[in-house]
Amino acid sequence: MDLLARMALLNIKGSSRMLLSSRPRRIIQYRRNLSSQEIFERESKYGAHNYHPLPVALCKAQGVFIWDVEGKRYFDFLSAYSAVNQGHCHPRIYKAMIDQAKTLTLTSRAFYSDILGEFEEYITKLFGYDKWLPMNTGVEGGETACKLARKWGYSCKGIPSNQAKIVFAEGNFWGRTMSAVSSSTDPTSYSGFGPFMPGFEIVPYDDLFALERIFADPNICAFMVEPIQGEAGVVVPKDGYLSGIRELCTRHNVLWIADEVQTGLARTGKRVAVDHENVKPDILILGKALSGGFYPVSGVLANDPVMLTIKPGEHGSTYGGNPLGCRIAHEALRVLEEEKLAENAERLGHVFRDELNKLPRDVITLVRGKGLLNAIVIDKKIDAMDVCLKLKKRRLLAKPTHGHIIRLAPPLIITEEQIHECADIISKTILSYI
Ligand SMILES: Cc1ncc(COP(=O)(O)O)c(C=O)c1O
Repeated sequence: MDLLARMALLNIKGSSRMLLSSRPRRIIQYRRNLSSQEIFERESKYGAHNYHPLPVALCKAQGVFIWDVEGKRYFDFLSAYSAVNQGHCHPRIYKAMIDQAKTLTLTSRAFYSDILGEFEEYITKLFGYDKWLPMNTGVEGGETACKLARKWGYSCKGIPSNQAKIVFAEGNFWGRTMSAVSSSTDPTSYSGFGPFMPGFEIVPYDDLFALERIFADPNICAFMVEPIQGEAGVVVPKDGYLSGIRELCTRHNVLWIADEVQTGLARTGKRVAVDHENVKPDILILGKALSGGFYPVSGVLANDPVMLTIKPGEHGSTYGGNPLGCRIAHEALRVLEEEKLAENAERLGHVFRDELNKLPRDVITLVRGKGLLNAIVIDKKIDAMDVCLKLKKRRLLAKPTHGHIIRLAPPLIITEEQIHECADIISKTILSYI
């Protein structure tokens, strides 16, 4: 018997543990044997209660499908809040990740790597900006955009020190940091977390008159807004809102920050949602699907007059721009482009909404969305969580956002046949309430 086998038998712990071929297998085996109920209970016992998940315990996914530990297969209609636009475990992104993981994963920004610049060149040329500033999560992208805007406000617009204001839209959602909750109008997000970040103002969403009024204040450096409000329940503004923002921001020398963390990267049927009105924000925040569902990558795009206001040492992140993340994000973007996923989202979005719009208005009061970012608004008499539990029984996973609204956002690789099958599941579920 060789040394490793003897160590395995003796169940030796410590640094040699990773080498023991029998241990990882046993751990995986143990995990697979837990029932859904046991998994719910373990998370509830050992994990913080900051989420209220649908009762389904998942263990495997591929493409548009996801399986629970009892082997039931579901259509995934959440796509990890639009982080898996390319479909689960996409083979090209997986291969890029493994290749890079074998070579170089993390250098920190104390040194150069052979991967970061290659990715920066690709993403800036693709979106038409001078520079990319890499981060990891979406909310860090938002924080970065706010810091850039304030810096630009002082160094370029001439706003007096510490007086800069950033305007946000009512109903916004951009994460859970102190800045993000300080700009939130949702009491669940901000209650109990004060004191809040100063210098943040709120205007109603989709209201250009209110925006123009607030822009009279010369200390405003930026307006940050989602082109479609995702977490607020897929709220689509009127046509002309985005081009109106562009015009007002230019006229009042205010930076337009578009938060495309959820709407970006083909989800709404265009590469980014601002492309629906052919307008270009001054700062574009990307995240979620840049990960391809594998590894968090986010960042902001801007041109030199904005981006170069931040100097070495003034902003950064240990992981932002690491070779592994860059390689994954590069392949994630190439997959979106080469598989024409924006075009697929645009086409199938129409098919999907046409099907849902045939439903009587007793249960669903409204169908709204763009591309494959859609929502159904459920009549207040009916519990949206109950609808989601019924959808789950019919093997489709979706989750309410804001009580009575159910967001429907499958991976963008979904086929027309599958979209019809899913519309049928949703229709049968809705009709069961009548
Ligand atoms: C529009 C928008 N911005 C930012 C974020 C925050 O992203 P993350 O959860 O990766 O920090 C989200 C998350 O849902 C989002 O929808």
